[in-house]
Order: sequence, then C-alpha cells, then structure tokens
Amino acid sequence: MAAATQGLVQTAETNPHVPKRTTVKALVESPALMSIPSNYSYTRYPNESDASDPDETLPTIDFSLLTSRDPLQRSKVIQDLNKACQDWGFFMLVNHGVPESLMKAVVDVCKEFFNLPMEEKMKFADKDIWKPIRFGTGVDVKVEKFYFWRDFIKVFVHPQFHFLNEPKGFSEVSGEYCKRTREVARELLQGISEALGLEENYIEKAMDLESGFQLFAANLYPPCPQPELAMGIPAHTDHGLLTFLIENEIGGLQIEHNGKWFHVNPLPNSFLVNTADHLQVLSNGKYKSIRHRAVVNNKDTRISIAVPHGPSLDTVVSPAPKLVESESRPAAYMPMKYKDYLNLQLDGKPCLDHIQLTFT
Ligand code: OGA
Ligand code: NI
Repeated sequence: MAAATQGLVQTAETNPHVPKRTTVKALVESPALMSIPSNYSYTRYPNESDASDPDETLPTIDFSLLTSRDPLQRSKVIQDLNKACQDWGFFMLVNHGVPESLMKAVVDVCKEFFNLPMEEKMKFADKDIWKPIRFGTGVDVKVEKFYFWRDFIKVFVHPQFHFLNEPKGFSEVSGEYCKRTREVARELLQGISEALGLEENYIEKAMDLESGFQLFAANLYPPCPQPELAMGIPAHTDHGLLTFLIENEIGGLQIEHNGKWFHVNPLPNSFLVNTADHLQVLSNGKYKSIRHRAVVNNKDTRISIAVPHGPSLDTVVSPAPKLVESESRPAAYMPMKYKDYLNLQLDGKPCLDHIQLTFT
C-alpha cells in the first residue's frame, strides 16, 4: 500500500508547510496538503480486512428496565445483557437517563479544547501514560515513527478528578458527564454480575468500584485527504471493565464480530458500551474484550469520547473463583494488579496475551 503513495508523499523535508512536531489537526490545516505524509500510511495486518455493514444489528439494552421494580422486567434485561456480552461484547445502551444536552455539551467542550492554540495543548504533551492530563497524537509504539490520524486528550477523572483551566467549562461539563456515566456503569455492572451468575454486588466489591479508575479520553479525527491509507486508531481492545463511547454523529468505529469487521451506526443518544479486558479476566473468558478500530474520512471532523471504567488501580484482578469452580474450567488468566496491567501497554503487544495461561 505504501508503494502506491511514492512520489506523492509530503514530509517536513519536501514540504516546508508540514510542521516537524505536529498534531493531525495542525497537519490538516497546513496549506496545500493533498496527500498524507508517508509516516501516516498504515499497512494493515492480514487479519484486518475491510469492514461491511452488519447484516445483524448490534444489541440494544434498555437501561431503564434494569432499575425497574418489576422483577420480571429485570430478569429479562439481565438475560439480554448476558446474550449481548457473550455474543457481541458491544451493545447500545438506551434510556440511560443521562441528558442529551449534557452529551452534546461534552462533545462541544472537547471541540473547544482541540481548537485551543497549539502551545496551550502542548503544555500537556507527554509520553508518560501516568500523567493525569495528557495530550498527544496517535503513535505506534512498536514503530516509533509511525503516526495515526488522531489527536487525543486523556484526563484521569476518578478517584481523583484532575482539573483543566482551559477551555472554560471543560472540567465542569466533563466532570458532570463522568459522574453520570460512572453511576450508570456501576448499575450496569450489578446487572452483569447477576448475568454471570454471581452475587449482585460481586463486581462492585471485588473490583473496589468506590475507588474505581475512570479515564476521560476525547479523540479528534480531522478529515484526511487519503482516508484509505491512514488509520485513526488501529485494532485494539480496551483495558478496564466497561467503556462508554459517544461520537459527534460522524461514523468511523468498526468492531470485530465473528471474525468479520463491521461499521457501527449507533442510535442517537445511546452509549456504545463494550466489555473490556478485565471483564474477560473476571468472567474467565465467558465475556470477551472485543477488538475495535476507528477509520477516518475525507469530509468531516469526527470527535469521539471514550470513558473506560475500571477497577481501582490497586485491585488484583483474577477470574471469579465461583465461575472457575462452577464451570470446572481452570483459571485462564493469571492474577494481576490493574496498575501493573496498565504498564504492559508500553510494549505494544496486546496486554491480554501477557496474562493468558495456556494449558497443555
Ligand atoms: C478508544 C477507541 C474508538 C473511536 O478511544 O479506545 O476505541 O471510535 N475509540 O474513537
Ligand atoms: Ni477502544
């Protein structure tokens, strides 16, 4: 694929307008950018085929039924949750009670953040994943010089909330949004505990959700002159228990389902929820952490906001003993502290591979 762009590629050396240390936003705004610089040209792995539209629809979970007093409705939605987590690992959550105005406002403040002057954003540029406020552009950690078509801001929001002074209102709005999604996630995890046949409060207690680690991550995908050559975010799974994702009505998210890639067209005002690595571990592999990626387009700027909800950083996560016993299957993952697991991200290999146990 890279060969097709030879002769067309522009770099800081060949085009003086292409800044040397840059963000994707600045790159797109540089004059006369007709093609993407060569170090943004992504070579897909053989198992990363093109996506099609799903022939099945992504499951929808009605959150209001989970909090319903009617036991029949609650047990029905718990069955739905079990099926959605087992068959897809991704679902759309509707009737969740988070106001539409708040969801719109949070996308707007993120847009304002990305519109701040470069120097303002660069104050937070750092490679250290433990910086509580971190701005950056997607870099392939395996191949240092390769970039993804994405700028991001990541903020640690729980158990400690980290405050940004600029743009005005950013922290108030994102703080409220994170508080509301945290409440929904904790309720949902009670339902998921039951769906797994565990006590309702098992996940809450075993994962110490009172001090759960929550991250607010906003992604910016500017229009790309050659979208078929670039990649917004490559195939990956998320750490933590559940990620909640929303976007500004511009599609781009694709998920892997039964070995094929699908475009996701979410219902308006829904949360896209995915089961992440630590639910895979806790459920001893019953619920999978599904691979997903974001592609880019040449027309519109896409903004997405991903909020992973995890255990507390000091929690040692292991398969739930009750599941290991009841299914008479040995534990498939070794126990590891969430904090140590996050450090595994540094080598670029899928983190789950490090803790998967194999039996001969
Ligand atoms: C993520 C992610 C997908 C998207 O931030 O982890 O998967 O659609 N984002 O932006
Ligand atoms: Ni993700």
